[in-house]
Amino acid sequence: MFQKDVPIVENVEIKPHNFLMTFEDAEIAAKSRVGQFLQFKAGGIENMLRVPISICRVQGDRVSIVYHVIGNGTEFMAKLAVGDSINVVGPLGNGFPTDIPAEKEILFVAGGIGFGPFPFAMDTLPNWKLFYGVRDESQLLLQDEIAGLEKAGQAFVATDNGSYGAKGFVTDLLDAYLTKDAANKVIFCCGPNPMMKRVCEVAAKHGVESYISMEDYMGCGIGICVGCVRKIRDASKPEGWDHKKVCKDGPVFKGEDILWN
Ligand SMILES: Cc1cc2nc3c(=O)[nH]c(=O)nc-3n(C[C@H](O)[C@H](O)[C@H](O)COP(=O)(O)OP(=O)(O)OC[C@H]3O[C@@H](n4cnc5c(N)ncnc54)[C@H](O)[C@@H]3O)c2cc1C
Ligand code: FES
Repeated sequence: MFQKDVPIVENVEIKPHNFLMTFEDAEIAAKSRVGQFLQFKAGGIENMLRVPISICRVQGDRVSIVYHVIGNGTEFMAKLAVGDSINVVGPLGNGFPTDIPAEKEILFVAGGIGFGPFPFAMDTLPNWKLFYGVRDESQLLLQDEIAGLEKAGQAFVATDNGSYGAKGFVTDLLDAYLTKDAANKVIFCCGPNPMMKRVCEVAAKHGVESYISMEDYMGCGIGICVGCVRKIRDASKPEGWDHKKVCKDGPVFKGEDILWN
């Protein structure tokens, strides 16, 4: 894990309120793994908490993120220009498993800005398909790249309002795909909580293993403040579960271990 100022080489609005930022740092690039995240210092005393953002892509010494502008921290980030620097801590968290047998097809299931970790996964993992759900076409990131993948039969897109791809929830596309053939599949998922909960239900219905990346509220991001705990199944505990820290024990957990209520 590093903490350093890194130079921004790109920070553009690729879709309304959605930015792609790239910075250059050989050490962070070399250490990053799929599904890990970085904590960005976004402002001064008024923004004490760092902003956790998934590592979206690593190309040589360049590390990219995509972020949705939602509050003070991300608004601050959106105003930064090429040549500015930003203070980063990371890479953090466990990331998605990297030891999936090659014969297994990995189904990436992304909801909204939960698409963040998947370009890195698409670049580096073999044998995958992408299921990507967004509210409407205006929120579909890397649209040209996704359109190419759709043509190749490697990506399936759903929008809530039908403005692009299938109308409805991406979890329905996933369910239909697994209904045809659920053998030798594993799911990697990141998105809003209701979607991830549904993905776990679909995975259980088809007997498919799933790994879920939680994007919870965070404080310190490095396991100190206990501000990010979730109930995770643990047979060794009297209650059958334990509080796990999303920042340090996660953000990726086995779907079957997550207690959603
Ligand atoms: C491991 C991890 C990876 C993430 N990856 C990405 C990513 O790749 N791209 C991206 O855009 N975002 C990602 N997020 C979410 C991102 O960290 C928050 O959107 C960001 O911290 C908001 O900061 P802010 O200061 O702009 O907004 P704030 O002022 O902190 O919040 C603005 C509004 O957003 C709500 N909010 C803030 N954080 C969250 C959250 N985690 N979940 C639900 N609602 C929230 C607040 O309640 C408030 O209403 C990730 C979060 C985690 C924990
Ligand atoms: S955010 Fe502080 S312990 Fe996880």
